[in-house]
Amino acid sequence: MFPTFIGPTGLAKGYLRPETAQGIFVNFKRLLEYNQNKLPFACAQIGTSFRNEISPRQGLLRLREFQMAEVEHFLHPKDKSHPRFAQVSHVELHLLPREAQELAKEAEIRTIGEAVRSGMINSETLGYYIARTYLFLLRAGIKPDKVRFRQHLATEMAHYACDCWDAELLLASGWIECVGCADRSAYDLQRHSEFSDQQLMATERLDQPLRREVMFVLPNKALLGPLLGKRMTAVQKCLDELTVESKMAMQRQLVEQGTFVLSVAGEELELRPEMVSFKTEEQNVYDGTCFGYLFMLFLSSLLLIEHFTPHVIEPSFGISRLVYAILEQNFYLRDGDEPRAVLSFPPVIAPVAVTIFPLLNNKGFVVFIEKLSKEFRQAEVLFKVDDSNVNIGRRYVRADETGCAFGCTIDFDTLKDDTVTLRERDSMGQARLPISDVAAVVKALVQQKCTWEQLIKKYGLFVFAGDSR
Ligand code: GLY
Repeated sequence: MFPTFIGPTGLAKGYLRPETAQGIFVNFKRLLEYNQNKLPFACAQIGTSFRNEISPRQGLLRLREFQMAEVEHFLHPKDKSHPRFAQVSHVELHLLPREAQELAKEAEIRTIGEAVRSGMINSETLGYYIARTYLFLLRAGIKPDKVRFRQHLATEMAHYACDCWDAELLLASGWIECVGCADRSAYDLQRHSEFSDQQLMATERLDQPLRREVMFVLPNKALLGPLLGKRMTAVQKCLDELTVESKMAMQRQLVEQGTFVLSVAGEELELRPEMVSFKTEEQNVYDGTCFGYLFMLFLSSLLLIEHFTPHVIEPSFGISRLVYAILEQNFYLRDGDEPRAVLSFPPVIAPVAVTIFPLLNNKGFVVFIEKLSKEFRQAEVLFKVDDSNVNIGRRYVRADETGCAFGCTIDFDTLKDDTVTLRERDSMGQARLPISDVAAVVKALVQQKCTWEQLIKKYGLFVFAGDSR
């Protein structure tokens, strides 16, 4: 946690969160109730996090205060399958597993299905989130050849994780971690339970009672009875309450060292091997720290319930880094008389999807500007109007620099036949289409329900005779 001082005197100390995740873990009980006490379920959160970076640098890449978005997917520790894994199992991506890094190998292209089947990725749910993260990154404008998933080495794995893969993006400064997909096991819920005395557990109906090996320490009453007298009851209770680990340690020490000191109500009792024996047997589990067993005669059926601490799969997005990566990977210079900057944002994230350009400052165009504006507004397409007194080529360049995806130009043919041209930023290709089609077409392009190539197939590529656009 990042310590800070609160208020005018600075006497109150505060701690800033290093990740949003903990807010989700402490609300686990409410979230579980909200999901009708059923697993699996997931909760997502976006917010600011703080880390005491020794040397913040590289713009948005290394900050003391940054935006994060995290999903915590709670699931049964014994069932980490994902019902929609089949929908992503074909997704191919660059994977750099631990072993490849140790042999200084490059990332290899594998389907997520193969990676999970071979055990390279430890569960379907972790694999599902890795694939979904990859698809999200591509949708947001990250280039497929500039993203890889690198598995954490055993030495760099966070204390809470049992498998972790980072989505690393290739930037001018090298491969930069932007998303981490981790299996956090039961670590967080168990630690919160330990420190808050709240049971952060889920339950599951069972078909059969759970069975577990139980270990007993049996005192030799003939030897200990005369020695302990009334204290025998307290010793018996103390032996019963020992954890399995302590009972096993006692057994080992008695064999190896011939003695074991037991603390009973502040007094020490030295045990020797002949004073106790050990017995292990399989039992139905009725109660304990991990499992509960509830008998309930209800319509003459037996209700069996298992209590367990869920595991958590967490994709964690560094939003500030991602924004930087999208800007860098989408910036390029277009060749020309002088190089012209372009931001090739996918239309879905472009701050302005389409700009309306009247070819000239002509009063006859105003009615068309208004008509198009109204239709874009109704279709909820982000647009602007650039009717400045600058030649159309320069206005296109200006829009390209800001990442605007499309240009809709009103010209003298519009006055004759109610058509406009639609220009795509990266290919600079144009199509001519009826004004009444434009808003729906741009909306479909933005929502990735139609590609520019499909649009050209329908309307044809438009070439303006003698135009330098
Ligand atoms: N929640 C993962 C991280 O903060 O890195």
